[in-house]
Formats: sequence, structure tokens, C-alpha cells
Amino acid sequence: MGDITITPLEGKAFGATITGVDLRTLSDDEFATIHRAFLDYGLLVFPQQHLDEQASADFGRRFGELEFGGQPMANQKKHKDGSFGEIYDINTQLMRTNVGNETWHTDSTYKPIASKCAMLSAVIIPDEGGNTEFADMRSAYADLDEATKARIAGLSAYHSTNYSQANDLGDFPVSNGEGVYGTVYHGEAYLRPLVKIHPETGIPNLFVGRHAFGIPGLPRDESRALLKSLIDFVVSDERRVYAQEWVPGDTVIWDNRFVLHRARPYDYTKPRYLIGTRVAGDPASELAYYPEDPQAEAGRQALAAELEILRDEVRDRMYGATTAPR
Ligand SMILES: [Fe+2]
Repeated sequence: MGDITITPLEGKAFGATITGVDLRTLSDDEFATIHRAFLDYGLLVFPQQHLDEQASADFGRRFGELEFGGQPMANQKKHKDGSFGEIYDINTQLMRTNVGNETWHTDSTYKPIASKCAMLSAVIIPDEGGNTEFADMRSAYADLDEATKARIAGLSAYHSTNYSQANDLGDFPVSNGEGVYGTVYHGEAYLRPLVKIHPETGIPNLFVGRHAFGIPGLPRDESRALLKSLIDFVVSDERRVYAQEWVPGDTVIWDNRFVLHRARPYDYTKPRYLIGTRVAGDPASELAYYPEDPQAEAGRQALAAELEILRDEVRDRMYGATTAPR
């Protein structure tokens, strides 16, 4: 491999493409360069890497402890022998969760410890659609007017994927305490500030997305309107939004602490298979609290009250994701 080349994404406030490196055989010097670029740009695109599950997890581990490594982000089953199998029916919880991720979010804000970063490696990509889009909440915060900065200073919102699935799709998954239902749809809600000071750069950024609801101290309609307006603001300028048009072999990594992302629709009867690895946040900066902590009760109650309202409110959008901005 030649020298690492970092090329900022053209016309964007964030993101860079990196070439001249093989992610499977990174030296410590090369990783230091990549890590610096990760903090500077927040989103790194590595073409032609063709990482498998193991290599994806190994690269993720360079950034920290994994939430999971080398897992399918897909609408298609992959057998143990490596062959691909059935395409999942759209009327499954797995596909409803996939469709939910077509609305702007950062990963794992609905868990006690939010994610540091995540990566996707493209294996099978449909001919049309299925992009992943990213949006920059760091330059968005810098571009906010002073009145809005003053208004949101000190405000927080609860984060829950029971909320986001209900709000975006009219989907009310019930936790069974295990697997994806237990770790994702668990009935807890975690309070996180709307303005985040990035733990490694010290730069403030907005911290919002589909999982956020119920700003304490604001009436429900004001909270909803404010959260929507902040997300709308982030994505209102094309300098802050980038669409990854996947080519098999691409690997992309992004900083979940200041970069939003969303999947884009495609023909769900066609296979789409990416390998995902997610790195946990540092508890010193990304821990809200644990379910057994006393302050968890307020989140649990806020979520239960919100879901009660949504059960009536979302009858018109059952599984349709009609609130997802297109
Ligand atoms: Fe995601």
C-alpha cells in the first residue's frame, strides 16, 4: 500500500475518503492517522476494503470495546457456510426495526451507555436505493442562531427506541427480556443533553435524533416541535448531509457522538447485506445511568406516559414510517 491519503468530502462540512491503506493490516502509525481523521471529520469512507465479519470486528476493536462485532445489517439470512438464504418478510420485527432506522438517529442512545462509533461494510447492494445518509450535528450547532443556542442550553431529552418505533412506525414491540427485544425494546428511557460536549475534541454539537422525546420542563407539543426543528435544521443544508452510495467492498465508519445517520428505502424483496460493528462509548462520557439507579424511574414513567398517548396518535401510520422525512 502507498501512503494514506485523506480527501475531505467535496462541498461538505464533515467527512473524508481515505485511500492507500488496508484496514486488515493496519500499523499503529496508520491507525493513529485514521483516528486523528476520525475526530477531525467524524465520517470516514474507505473504498475497496472487502472486510469480512472478523476483519470488521477487529478494526472496530481498535476504537474501543465493542457492543457487537461483524453482525449482519441485512434483509437476508446468511448461513454458517457463508451462503445467503431467505429474504425476510417486511412484516417481521427485524424488518420493522430496519425500516425504523430510515429515520435520523445515532446508535444506542436508548441504552445506558451510548455508542462511540459504528461501521458498515457493504457486501450486497440493491441496484436502486439503499443508500446510507449521514448528517453533521457539530457544524449544525456552530451554525445555530444565538437565541436557539440560549434556548436549548441546559435542556435534555429522553431517548428510547420503544418511543421511536411507536412514533415513526406505529410499532409497539414488547420486550421479552432477551435478545434484541430485551436489549433494545426494554421500556427504559435515558436522559441526555441536547448539546453535547464531545469528550475527545471538546467541541459542542447538537445531540438529537429519532429516539429523543419528552424534554423535561417543556409541554409535550413544545418538546416535539423543538426536537423536530433541531433535526430539520441539521439536515436543511446540503453541506451537512452526505449520502453514501454503496459499492460492495466499501467500509464506512462514523462518530455516533456527533454524526446522525439513516438508512434509505429500497425494494425490500431484493437482497441488501452489510456487515455492522458497533463500538461502545466511554462510560465517563456516554453513560446516562443504569436501570437500577434511582433516576431511571423518571424515564420509565415518561416513556410509559408517552407510549399511552402514541397508541392513539399513530393509528394512521401503522408500520408505514410515514413520519420519516423523505
Ligand atoms: Fe443506526
